[in-house]
Amino acid sequence: MTDDAIRVDYALAMDDGSGCGLTNAQLEAEAPAFERGLRRVLAEAEGGRLGFWGLPDDTIDLEKVQAFASELSDAVTDIVVLGIGGSSLGGRALVEALGPAVAPPDARRIHYPDNSDPWRLDGLLRALDPKATLAVVISKSGGTVETAAQLLVVRQWFRDGGVAMKDHLVAITDPESGLLRSLADTEGLRSFDIPSNVGGRFSVLTPVGLLPGALAGFDMAGLLKGAGAMRDRCARTVLKENPAGIVAALHVLHHRLHGRPIHVMMPYSDALRGYANWFVQLWAESLGKRLDRQERVVETGPTPLPAVGATDQHAQVQLFMEGPKDKLVTFVALDQPLAKRAIPTEEGPYAYLGGHDLAELLDYERRATALALAGDGRPSLTIHLPRLDAPALGGLFFLMEAATAIAGELYGIDAFDQPGVELGKRLAYGLLGRKGYEDAASEVQELERTLPRHRV
Ligand code: PA5
Repeated sequence: MTDDAIRVDYALAMDDGSGCGLTNAQLEAEAPAFERGLRRVLAEAEGGRLGFWGLPDDTIDLEKVQAFASELSDAVTDIVVLGIGGSSLGGRALVEALGPAVAPPDARRIHYPDNSDPWRLDGLLRALDPKATLAVVISKSGGTVETAAQLLVVRQWFRDGGVAMKDHLVAITDPESGLLRSLADTEGLRSFDIPSNVGGRFSVLTPVGLLPGALAGFDMAGLLKGAGAMRDRCARTVLKENPAGIVAALHVLHHRLHGRPIHVMMPYSDALRGYANWFVQLWAESLGKRLDRQERVVETGPTPLPAVGATDQHAQVQLFMEGPKDKLVTFVALDQPLAKRAIPTEEGPYAYLGGHDLAELLDYERRATALALAGDGRPSLTIHLPRLDAPALGGLFFLMEAATAIAGELYGIDAFDQPGVELGKRLAYGLLGRKGYEDAASEVQELERTLPRHRV
């Protein structure tokens, strides 16, 4: 491990460091299951069924997005990314993490309306000029209703603005199948691929994240390089040498042995708020499952919770400190802050702050919170980034993707499907009157009709 590497410090998740319950013997006992799980993940990747593992080597897509970004006219000042879930959260986290806190006035702005709530999309479209806007529509399946509805709204907005769709709309979708692929091919839209063997929530290192990142002018080659370096570390079969293995094993063991199903992701950096939200979706949708691999009902899965330091010290940390001992907190620390701002020295009640820096204050608060939690037997681990740049972010994304895949193995579930969201989708299609979903419409009516009345 070089000085430049991401480090996972887990002393405060272990019994000898903090009295938090997990012994070395318990961790060691999980090593064989970890090794079996990792070997299975590696075999799936090798067999071409788990595409995310190979993405750091994908120079073809990288070159395509870079070429597109460099050719895009300077007249385009705004990018609107249409997509939801895995088609939105990763790119959004990336753009937020690598962008300056306040973008210079001439920088391209990247917008992620994400939800289909018209409050945001409508407001956004009213503020933008269609002639200066590029819409990037992202859907792996091509059928996601929220994204399809937004796409139709934006297409109409372009038509009303008198701009040519081909110059203002690009698609990122499956290379071969789905409605968005057909639309892009039929209309000759510029398009990029999400490899068929990469699921939405594991797609940030495909054009889903690379294109918005390149359009914003960030170092996407560095992102993949950092992810590749982390991928190599996450392929190690010795548990204590594998950062993703350690992250996965700690979470699963604290859940299974110590009743801690709540997994908090708490970066001490505003730039990583989006990362915490990305993690929540990755962890929840991958690990919350009714059936295990043997089709037995297990209804398992942790509950991920986003938090940000120091903001949440004045919100959720009271609960983390004194509420149920059912949480494992992951802090993310920047060893080199993104910015510094000296706190001026002034006589009077705040004199003790003088000579410090705002970044230093943030870091002291993180350390103090971790120790305070540990003092009451509440475990945490800390992911240290040497700095927050594109390679480190690539490593950070890959670390949690690999940890998710390994945790899926340790929970004994399939981390790559999401059957639980299908019923809700079917019922919504029924309400929309979509052809072929007539049964679902009657099902909704019947369910709502027979519900007992409890109203106030
Ligand atoms: O991770 C996933 O698979 C999901 O969250 C999807 O990304 C989300 O449902 C959007 O799907 P799609 O990209 O097909 O529009």
